[in-house]
Amino acid sequence: MTEVKDDPFLNDLSLSLKQAWELLRAGAADRHSPLHTPVVATVTGAGTASQRIMVLRAVDQHSRRLRFNTDLRGSKVAEVGRGASVSLLGYHPEAKVQLRLSGKAEVQSTGPDADAAWEQASLYGQRCYLAEPAPGSPVDAPTSGLASAIEGVKPTPDQVRTGRTNFAILLVEVETIEWLYLAHRGHRRARFHWNAAAVRWEGIWLVP
Ligand SMILES: Cc1cc2nc3c(=O)[nH]c(=O)nc-3n(C[C@H](O)[C@H](O)[C@H](O)COP(=O)(O)O)c2cc1C
Repeated sequence: MTEVKDDPFLNDLSLSLKQAWELLRAGAADRHSPLHTPVVATVTGAGTASQRIMVLRAVDQHSRRLRFNTDLRGSKVAEVGRGASVSLLGYHPEAKVQLRLSGKAEVQSTGPDADAAWEQASLYGQRCYLAEPAPGSPVDAPTSGLASAIEGVKPTPDQVRTGRTNFAILLVEVETIEWLYLAHRGHRRARFHWNAAAVRWEGIWLVP
């Protein structure tokens, strides 16, 4: 009988953590990765959970920061406020790994990081920030919110310029990572938290 070879991270906490960051990094870099579009959850002013899909734009393991782009006028921006906790969720079917992250979020609409993110966005991406009235506004008739001159066509740099005032980046400083790996012979689950005083990740195994 062929021996089933375990994945190396199956019984090794540090390799599980390494794999989690690799999946996140690949999620930002590869638009075909299922982790390119995680669920980002906030808590509304009324205390209820609110979730939405967002495109993971950048991951920096060293600073533990994830970056998303968003419209400054959206509900999630108000919900994040200054430094609220957010929860992120994604599942990578090929790796059979679910990642559940939590961290402190921050919205920046000015500054070098927001400017660089705006410059990196495509013209179609920048066009999203031209919607009027603001995203989430009730309207009488179905609409994209875009002016007809830029609907269905690639806009020019001149046409998208004013969108910059509505553009912001949402940064998440990751504080916990829960890694769940589905395996035939038995699942594995681990939880990591960033120990700021010790400047290191600490992990424990959990029963899946
Ligand atoms: C595939 C996909 C990708 C999305 N990417 C983003 C994104 O990167 N940023 C964003 O603000 N909204 C994105 N959205 C829209 C959000 O899910 C959400 O509908 C919108 O931002 C309004 O959210 P809010 O009212 O909670 O602020 C995306 C939706 C889908 C389906």
